[in-house]
Amino acid sequence: MKLLVLPGDGVGTEVTEQGLRVLDWFARHRGLALDITHRTFGMENWRRHGTMMPDETWAQILGADAILFGATGSLDQAAAVPPEERRKGSLLRMRGALDLFANLRPVKMPAALTEASPYKPRITEHVDLIFVRELTAGIYFGEPRGVETLPDGTRRGINTHSYTEAQITRAARFAFELARTRRNHVTSVDKANVMEAGALWRQVVGALHAREFPDVTLEHMLADNCAMQLARSPRRFDVIVTDNLFGDLLSDAAGAIIGSLGMLPSASLSAPDASGRRRALYEPVHGSAPDIAGQGVANPLGSILSVALLLRWSAGRPEDAAHLEAAVERALAQGARTADIAAPGEAVLGTAAMGDAVLGC
Ligand code: NAI
Ligand code: MG
Repeated sequence: MKLLVLPGDGVGTEVTEQGLRVLDWFARHRGLALDITHRTFGMENWRRHGTMMPDETWAQILGADAILFGATGSLDQAAAVPPEERRKGSLLRMRGALDLFANLRPVKMPAALTEASPYKPRITEHVDLIFVRELTAGIYFGEPRGVETLPDGTRRGINTHSYTEAQITRAARFAFELARTRRNHVTSVDKANVMEAGALWRQVVGALHAREFPDVTLEHMLADNCAMQLARSPRRFDVIVTDNLFGDLLSDAAGAIIGSLGMLPSASLSAPDASGRRRALYEPVHGSAPDIAGQGVANPLGSILSVALLLRWSAGRPEDAAHLEAAVERALAQGARTADIAAPGEAVLGTAAMGDAVLGC
């Protein structure tokens, strides 16, 4: 498997280093065969070399089977970068070019952190849900877009929200197939009551369900209600399928249940090609965290758990993925804590020491 490593900016480089140590463990102890290439890109690359996305890095992105990505961006540098460069180096461009339509964001409460969650333990205990967020359409990609000046001289910002039947169908099909490997339950989230694309979303998901997945339980839920249900009874969810915008917001809200953004992994997958191969990008959900970058204190578990997703979805090694997820659970059960997940008075590990703790389990 050709794996491209793009650590990017800020804590992206720090956490990716720990993800790579774990991959290396699987290469040495489990015979995982990897052809790894490292490339730079991002704001730091802009500062040093005047481009966020070197052409050569882009060529590697287009040729890779899988990408292990850290994070990009830092707010204080962003203003200096011309819009064209920012677009070239943006995640949106990567998602679009690789057609990474299915964004998976698992939210699983580790038993050891249940007490430390900002939510009540009776709410967070045993939460185990996964978002399938449609990632290549909807309002972030819709045309027309832009800022136009009206005849009276005032300006209007425009984004367009649209979904085709095909775009809805492939996201929903992914969710139903995934549910069959889990607890067989799909919640489809939309605003069918007020949005045209939302009404179509509901129709298309319902029709696909009746036609191909009658064995899976399907519920439809309005997005605002879903936000409340996630805060009140997140355990009721198994697979949640939704559009690009709602998936962005709701998955961050669900992430808060765990207590830190630093814990959350993600995978973004394309449709399989003729040989069954999916393109994939794996990354922690968090960004470059400029407030803690360079201090060696970032939580690497989001990146390490993204490696578990890589083992499952790109390497075809579900047992190794489960082994790694169990090692993370054990490290936490033994008290390994980075600053973001430590309770007052608990001993705190740095980024590399947390990597050690997982490798030791
Ligand atoms: P952020 O995710 O970088 O940080 C939000 C908060 O979470 C901060 O307090 C940070 O210290 C904390 N945090 C994040 N990762 C952590 C970790 N591994 N361990 C412990 N604490 C952690 O989001 P923010 O501050 O809104 O954005 C910073 C930059 O990152 C911006 O330039 C933004 O555009 C970019 N960004 C990039 C993303 C990506 O590359 N996929 C996603 C989100 C933001
Ligand atoms: Mg987000």
